[in-house]
Amino acid sequence: MALARALPDEAMSPVPLHRAMRYAVLGGGKRMRPLLVYAAGLALGAALDRLDAPAAAVEIIHAYSLVHDDLPAMDDDALRRGQPTCHVAFGEAMAILAGDALQALAFEVLSEAPALDVEPAVRVEMLRILAKACGSQGMAGGQALDLASVGQRLDPAELERMHVHKTGALIRASVRLGALAAGCRDEAVLARIDRYGHCVGLAFQIRDDILDVEGSTDQLGKTAGKDVAQAKPTYPAILGMTASRGQLAAMTEQALADAATFGARGRALGDLARFVALRES
Ligand code: IPE
Ligand code: IPE
Ligand code: MG
Ligand code: MG
Ligand code: MG
Repeated sequence: MALARALPDEAMSPVPLHRAMRYAVLGGGKRMRPLLVYAAGLALGAALDRLDAPAAAVEIIHAYSLVHDDLPAMDDDALRRGQPTCHVAFGEAMAILAGDALQALAFEVLSEAPALDVEPAVRVEMLRILAKACGSQGMAGGQALDLASVGQRLDPAELERMHVHKTGALIRASVRLGALAAGCRDEAVLARIDRYGHCVGLAFQIRDDILDVEGSTDQLGKTAGKDVAQAKPTYPAILGMTASRGQLAAMTEQALADAATFGARGRALGDLARFVALRES
């Protein structure tokens, strides 16, 4: 599997760091972001092996974001993917370092993969997209908004902005990377893929917020009910459950419409949009 191969061997020094990195990435998860890379690439006719590196890179970034999200200074969570969180298993310092090293590894993977046979300028563009998606204008920025908003009453536009950054940015980047790996240069096609990514990204976090209220810890593999307990600004908390479901449905409908423009080759994009809306974990 591309992901296991991309990670440093556990036996290699420093052993605890490499163990923590492998634990954070290989311990389960739905692999939604890599699936979106493959689905976007396939919609545009890419060979699968070209997509392995961007798919691994986005999942490695995602895993790092979860390790840091769970830290005591952030959401202070003890359970992730049905297992003790990285800092519970390896200590806080090692979890911080594992996150740091995973972030760097994602860029290493994307920069050197020979199977990703694109022109150097395209590879640089892909690296730039990934960098922006996880930086202060992307995931890390969204996480900062999340932490600054605890106990606050955000208006719907601020709420959307936070979600679009903390979760939407990496999902949007995933489909853009898939499209670029496929060699797509058509601006109109890239714009459709981008809108699909925007909608699925927002839908993903709305569903996450709904599941935090309606799901059980067993089913989610992470502590249920923690958003209310931590006074997090979520879609259900701010808009209510009915309007949250309405927003989720609207985003899903737009994503499905964009997926449909790719015909039979866009089937996986449609399936994933439906999965995001209906997922139970
Ligand atoms: C959880 O993401 C964190 C969010 C960005 C909402 P996922 O629900 O994709 O987590 P895994 O990878 O399946 O564990
Ligand atoms: C996390 O959002 C977004 C990330 C960037 C990791 P949440 O804090 O809602 O994710 P969970 O519910 O802990 O998985
Ligand atoms: Mg969080
Ligand atoms: Mg969290
Ligand atoms: Mg959540």
